[in-house]
Amino acid sequence: MRVRPRRRARFELVGSGVSHTYTSPDTLGPDPLSIFEAWFAEARALDPRFADAMTLATATLDGRPSARTVLYKGLHEGAVCFVSNYESRKGQELSQNPHAALVFFWAGLNRQVRFEGRAVPASSAWSDRYFAARARSSQIGAWASAQSQVIASRDVLEARIAEVEARFDGQPVARPPFWGGFRLVPERVEFWLGQDARLHDRHLYTRGDGDWAQSRLSP
Ligand SMILES: Cc1cc2nc3c(=O)[nH]c(=O)nc-3n(C[C@H](O)[C@H](O)[C@H](O)COP(=O)(O)O)c2cc1C
Repeated sequence: MRVRPRRRARFELVGSGVSHTYTSPDTLGPDPLSIFEAWFAEARALDPRFADAMTLATATLDGRPSARTVLYKGLHEGAVCFVSNYESRKGQELSQNPHAALVFFWAGLNRQVRFEGRAVPASSAWSDRYFAARARSSQIGAWASAQSQVIASRDVLEARIAEVEARFDGQPVARPPFWGGFRLVPERVEFWLGQDARLHDRHLYTRGDGDWAQSRLSP
């Protein structure tokens, strides 16, 4: 039998002159969150536009899925964080069924990362801290928008914004009780590297008893 040469993925980071070769999980390392942080940093360095955009998939209790884009707000105590309205469609689905998935795709690197786990509200302290650091216009918007509810017109939204601005005139904007962080605690993380001839590399990490188990998946 003819032995094929071992395939190697090589990613040239534009402008950096850095070349990376990934051939096996050994070269990636044992901790998927550290790998993710390194990949995210590379994606942001290559192209900061929407490097932090990720698709969040949720599902109702009877298994009807829905997906939308949200922004990544960092890792905190082993969880992937994002912020949203707790009463939105995603918020309601997560309160019924916390099982969720997040997907990043970075075209410039030809890489994808998938997370699966339970997404639960972040602590009030985390959400308060994050909310306090937002621009005032975003704070006002969080109060004014009943996210995912039908609204009669743009004028209605603008009237609500004016109302909220008047309510908080001259004072700090408190965090709405219906708005805050979510933390997805990953149980499964997959790193996908685009390769020639669709023979992509897929490295799966699943959480066992505290430790992560690694395996390679067929493309
Ligand atoms: C690039 C981008 C980033 C977004 N970031 C967020 C976000 O961080 N949080 C959020 O609630 N919605 C975000 N949205 C809007 C959501 O995609 C979605 O429209 C909204 O959250 C309502 O979703 P739902 O009705 O399924 O709950 C973003 C949309 C885009 C296109």
